[in-house]
Amino acid sequence: MSGRILTVAQQKGGSGKTTLAAHIAVALARQSGEPVAILDVDPQGSLGTWFEAREGSLGEDNTGLEFRTASGWGARREARSLAKSHGYVLVDTPPKSDSDAKPAIDVADFVIVPIQPTPVDLWATSQTIQLADREDTPALLVLNRVPPRATLTGETAEAIAASGFEALATRLGNRTVFASSMGRGLTATEESSSSKAATEVTALVEELIERIG
Ligand SMILES: Nc1ncnc2c1ncn2[C@@H]1O[C@H](COP(=O)(O)OP(=O)(O)OP(=O)(O)O)[C@@H](O)[C@H]1O
Ligand SMILES: [Mg+2]
Repeated sequence: MSGRILTVAQQKGGSGKTTLAAHIAVALARQSGEPVAILDVDPQGSLGTWFEAREGSLGEDNTGLEFRTASGWGARREARSLAKSHGYVLVDTPPKSDSDAKPAIDVADFVIVPIQPTPVDLWATSQTIQLADREDTPALLVLNRVPPRATLTGETAEAIAASGFEALATRLGNRTVFASSMGRGLTATEESSSSKAATEVTALVEELIERIG
C-alpha cells in the first residue's frame, strides 16, 4: 500500500489546521474504510493532546487512528513510513515557521490549507501556497469558520479564484461543536452526528476523496 499524504498547513496561526486534521482523519477513516494515521509535527503538540483525550474517551484500542510525532526532516521519513500501511496520513503543522512546515509540505501528495474568509488570512495563505507550488504539490484551500451571510466570504472566495488558487466547494461554518468536541478527543461528527457541522465534514471528505482519489 502506498497511501496519500495530506499535509494541513497555513502560516497564519489559529486558522483551523489542527481542527481540520482531526476532523478529516476521523471522517476519512469512516468514509473510505481505509486505515488512517495522523502525524503531529507541531511542537505545540495540540493534535497529540487531542489524541490523548481521545484515548481517554474511547479507550486506547478504539481511537480508530494511529498517532505519531516527528520534528524537522524526521517528518518526511515518518510520513512515508506511515503511508506504507495506511490509506491516508494526515500531517498537522505549526504556524509561522517555514523550517518546520517545509519537510511536511515536501513529502505531501496534497496540501490542505484552512483559511478564514478575510483578506488578511488570504495574504498569509499565499506564502503557504508558494511552498507547495515549489514542490509541484497541489494545494486545496478550505474556507473555515465561515459566518452566515457575510459579504466578506463571497469576496474572499472571488479573490481566491482570481489568484488561481483551488478551493474545495464545501465550507465549514463557525460552529461551537468543532471546538467543544475536540476538547473531549472527539470530532463534531462523533459528538453530534445530526449537527450542521457533521454534515459539512461529511460533505468535505466526500469531495476530498473524489478530488484526490
Ligand atoms: N469551524 C470552526 N468553528 C468554530 N471554531 C473553530 C473552527 N475551526 C477552528 N475553530 C477554533 O479556532 C481555534 C483555532 O483552531 P486550531 O487550533 O485548529 O487552529 P490551528 O491553525 O491549528 O492553530 P495553530 O496555528 O496555533 O496551530 C480553536 O479554538 C478551534 O477550536
Ligand atoms: Mg494547530
